[in-house]
Amino acid sequence: MTQTHQHEVIIVGAGGAGLMAALYASRGADTAVLSKLYPTRSHTGAAQGGIGAALGNLEPDKVEWHSFDTVKGSDYLGDQDAIDYMCAQAPEVVYELEHMGLPFSRTDDGKIAQRRFGGHTNNDTKQPVLRSCYAADRTGHMILQTLYQNCIKNKVHFYDEFHVLDLLMNDGVANGVVAVELATGELHVFHAKSVVFATGGHGRIWELTSNAYAYTGDGVAITLRRGLPAQDLEFFQFHPTGILKLGILITEGVRGEGGVLINGKGERFMERYAPTVKDLASRDVVSRSIYLEIRDGNGIKGDRYVHLDMRPEVVNHYAELDGRTLPDGTPYRVTGEQLLSKVPDIVDFCRTYLGIDPIKEPMPIQPTAHYAMGGIPTNVHGQALSDAQGTIVPGLFAAGEVACVSVHGANRLGTNSLLDLVVFGKEAGKMAAEYAKSADYKPLEANPTDFTRQQLDRILGKSGGEKVVTLGEEMKTKMMDDVGVFRTAEGMASAIEKMRELRERYKNVSVDDHGKRFNTDLLNAWELGCLLDVALATAVSAHARPESRGAHAREDFPKRNDAEWLKHTLAWMDGDQVRLEYKPVTITKYEPKERVY
Ligand code: FUM
Repeated sequence: MTQTHQHEVIIVGAGGAGLMAALYASRGADTAVLSKLYPTRSHTGAAQGGIGAALGNLEPDKVEWHSFDTVKGSDYLGDQDAIDYMCAQAPEVVYELEHMGLPFSRTDDGKIAQRRFGGHTNNDTKQPVLRSCYAADRTGHMILQTLYQNCIKNKVHFYDEFHVLDLLMNDGVANGVVAVELATGELHVFHAKSVVFATGGHGRIWELTSNAYAYTGDGVAITLRRGLPAQDLEFFQFHPTGILKLGILITEGVRGEGGVLINGKGERFMERYAPTVKDLASRDVVSRSIYLEIRDGNGIKGDRYVHLDMRPEVVNHYAELDGRTLPDGTPYRVTGEQLLSKVPDIVDFCRTYLGIDPIKEPMPIQPTAHYAMGGIPTNVHGQALSDAQGTIVPGLFAAGEVACVSVHGANRLGTNSLLDLVVFGKEAGKMAAEYAKSADYKPLEANPTDFTRQQLDRILGKSGGEKVVTLGEEMKTKMMDDVGVFRTAEGMASAIEKMRELRERYKNVSVDDHGKRFNTDLLNAWELGCLLDVALATAVSAHARPESRGAHAREDFPKRNDAEWLKHTLAWMDGDQVRLEYKPVTITKYEPKERVY
């Protein structure tokens, strides 16, 4: 028997964006959060190195520098009005988190500590600047815990382990969601005035990823199925430093603290690719450089990886060569103990997963699929958009990685995702509550669970069909090989064909568990359907863009083409066809230039 619940604002997802939205929405409206995970298990908890804000606690910094670095990092595809807004809000939201109780690491004089991160610079000297506000290497974890505690204090309703499978709409207006309760297998209808999607990204499309198992593109797939577009899916970031073969993130904070990338010849190769900022170039640049080194036979022992070295003697050697100093002008030097206190989880991961101690040995790393720059198109208020003209979808909001504002354009700077999710989570929550106060509950359709039931019954009705794991592995391998760090027309065309074939075979997917309670077998199969939809839309969007920009690096079109391609992609899905349209990028102060690091 389907239960129906009613809340003015429904938030889907309990990561940083969802919880920030919930906190703000709950100040003005009856608010509930639905999450397929227990909230504090959300993927925001995996974010390590920090949140960007030009506080200038240790050395001069400016909001304008943060803005310009973000525009440049985005390879000029980011919308500059949105970027200015985010960077201007950054100091305020960081202090807000601090006042909520977030235990930031501290400077000697008690201020929020800041470290260097890729692409963040002093615009005058062009050198890396201390901008990332951090809580050791557990910044995302601390944000998640802090926001969750504050949501509980603010009496937000939580429906934990309720997996949302559909968005309900009435005459183009969002009016609720359908979710399955994991513990019972029952479907529930949530009737709402405002729906906020904060469902995270879709890195599980790729073979090697830093993303949690839960990152299966649910929000983008659900909205595509409801006839709404997805923006800029071709731009997916590979983080340079994932643990070899496992993909687990090694924070860029390691390089911020002085760690260096070393190839099989013992060279600090980033000196050649980014002579000014070296290991702290933006992620697209560093990931490509690692691939090029490996391709040239310069991997460690000729293999497909390089080393990230943070042994104190190595850090100190290169700090001396670089002439790096502390803010008071004394030479920058570190001890093993200091590094351990700055990145304790990294040390722990390496000891646990690799059996090595990174204070004594270099870490074997390779680029890992990390972050979706694309997603549900929104404006700066978190309102979802339905077309290239910016038409608002009434009642629907999105924030965090699932959304594309677009502040990251073609390549996100490290630390800007935690910033994005608190700034735009806050904005989406405020707007969702405001909208709910002036709107009525739009009636639900007669049988709101029909579409969801059809999808689940189709999977449950089969036996001996295609295996989820087989289809998933074929998808991941193909996407990694042909829609990864480097791309060609031929490779992407074959990936499109492969995704179409897999989506066809998916119609015959079956599961072994036909029970109701905690049927993760069934839900994994449903999630695979989301991944395949998003993978197809990604490959088609990428194939259609004959230029290289940010994370979209084409071997057959190695140059950026501003004359024809300085524009955002919008993708709609209709069966196995993907229709594309384009919309202009908002340029305010910064005309596109060649990026030099
Ligand atoms: O490297 C990191 O700590 C990751 C941060 C981010 O993706 O912003």
